[in-house]
Amino acid sequence: MFTRSVLLMLIAGPALAAGPNLGTPVTHGDLAAWDIHILPDGTGLPKGGGTSAQGAAIYAQKCMHCHGEGAKGGTNAALVGAPPIKSIDATKTIANFWPYSTTIFDFIRRSMPWQQPRSLTDDEVYALTAYILAQNKLIGEKDVMNAQTLPKVRMPNRDGFIPRFPEQTPGVRDL
Ligand code: HEC
Repeated sequence: MFTRSVLLMLIAGPALAAGPNLGTPVTHGDLAAWDIHILPDGTGLPKGGGTSAQGAAIYAQKCMHCHGEGAKGGTNAALVGAPPIKSIDATKTIANFWPYSTTIFDFIRRSMPWQQPRSLTDDEVYALTAYILAQNKLIGEKDVMNAQTLPKVRMPNRDGFIPRFPEQTPGVRDL
């Protein structure tokens, strides 16, 4: 009996290790289309750029019906405005809460407009990011946002978060 089960293991072991032979290997190209995350320090930001004026036109067409005129809020969240945070229940906005400007790009690119995520070009996302930052008076009206300039925009609440393990938090160590 013992000998028989050892024999079975010897036969089954290599067969299982080889796997059921389903699917196809994932290529770097396949992964690149999904791997769109951007770190706080801007690692991962794509080529391209845009200004607030360009963003205003896109905003009016693709965002205003949910986020309201001037991005001050509508059916959905205000993207402009920074009411003071006095308690845990306070309204948290991009300008009073978000610690990194690069997250605005990442968030819009992966999830907005709500009904058509990932439909915007990188230039459009840069322009919309510029528009939101300029409306919040965190950059100038004419500033161009791109992979070099966006990570340099310091958000008002940058120091409101304390990474518990900075050495294990990619992209925040040297900020
Ligand atoms: C169909 C409605 C709809 C449209 C159109 C839309 N959004 Fe949103 N947006 C939402 C919802 C829903 C949320 C998440 C819930 C919330 O915060 O209200 C959200 C959240 C956001 C946030 C995060 C806000 C925060 O403080 O958490 C940003 C930034 C944003 N949207 C940008 C945009 C931009 C830029 C566009 C245009 C390209 C856009 N949205 C178009 C519905 C929409």
